[in-house]
Amino acid sequence: MASSRRLIAASLLALTAIFFLLAGPAAATGKTGQVTVFWGRNKAEGSLRQACDTGTYTFVIISFLNVFGHDGHGKYHLDISGHPIAGVGEDIKHCQYIGIPVSLSIGGFGNNYSLTSKQAALDLFDYLWNAFLGGGKPGTHRPFGDAWLDGVDLFLEHGTAADRYDVLALELAKHNIRGLAGGKPLHLTATPRCGFPPARWVATAVDTGILERVHLRIYDDGDCEAYWHLRWDQWTAAYRATRFYVGLTASEMTHGWVHPKNVYYDVAPSAQKADNYGGLMIWDRYYDKLSNYTSIVKYYA
Ligand SMILES: *[C@@H]1O[C@H](CO)[C@@H](O)[C@H](O)[C@H]1NC(C)=O
Ligand SMILES: *[C@@H]1O[C@H](CO)[C@@H](O)[C@H](O)[C@H]1NC(C)=O
Repeated sequence: MASSRRLIAASLLALTAIFFLLAGPAAATGKTGQVTVFWGRNKAEGSLRQACDTGTYTFVIISFLNVFGHDGHGKYHLDISGHPIAGVGEDIKHCQYIGIPVSLSIGGFGNNYSLTSKQAALDLFDYLWNAFLGGGKPGTHRPFGDAWLDGVDLFLEHGTAADRYDVLALELAKHNIRGLAGGKPLHLTATPRCGFPPARWVATAVDTGILERVHLRIYDDGDCEAYWHLRWDQWTAAYRATRFYVGLTASEMTHGWVHPKNVYYDVAPSAQKADNYGGLMIWDRYYDKLSNYTSIVKYYA
């Protein structure tokens, strides 16, 4: 009698264990596990190496190269909010060594950039290639030394119909020398607001069809906050060859912040219906360090 009761208890325990094995992890596991974060907008966020060592992110984008083209008056300027630039090259190599690619975003919220001629676009390509990527033209200063970045991101808050980001994108794509000895893949991405159709200067680049990823910001923009489901469907249907990431803010104080619970129940499952869903993008490392937002939502990516 006692032994059969023990048997029943043991079977129940085993059943419970199986139930949690099946139900527990399956519910919390995302689709790709990919989380991209922006770094470089606040010195208090800590170093790039620290960001990579959290183990929370799979891709980091340094922001921003915020002066270039005609409105940059022939200058290029990298603004990483007072982070000491000296150590960044070694940090990039460290991140790459532990499997986290690092790319550079151009543009941002300032007004000192534009790309209103084909020549300006070719010049910017030349500068990016020699200052941050595989080039090494004598006389071009390399802020991160011999660290070779993994890609370029377009974060174009403003522009005009005359901008030629398509020329830049195509030139970069030509140098995506995946598979060649000594070469490495170049990740081309863009991080626009989620509005659709995209602004003309963004569309010109995305329409080339060669962007690997687009991160759609669904925060800090009334239209995106209200209609992002619709916009997501429009973008993912229009650009089949590009992978799409949901851009979220890690700051509760920012308009359009999404509670992790709603990422779990709505944002992630809705976005993942698209077969070109790529993952999540988090703005930014500084807010994330304060809130630990990604430590929760990464399980839903
Ligand atoms: C940006 O342009 C403004 C004027 O248009 C200028 O005062 C400012 O110094 C520029 N910033 C940089 C970083 O070049
Ligand atoms: C975030 O995580 C860090 C390190 O684990 C911790 O010190 C901090 O209190 C956490 N912040 C919040 C808001 O949970």
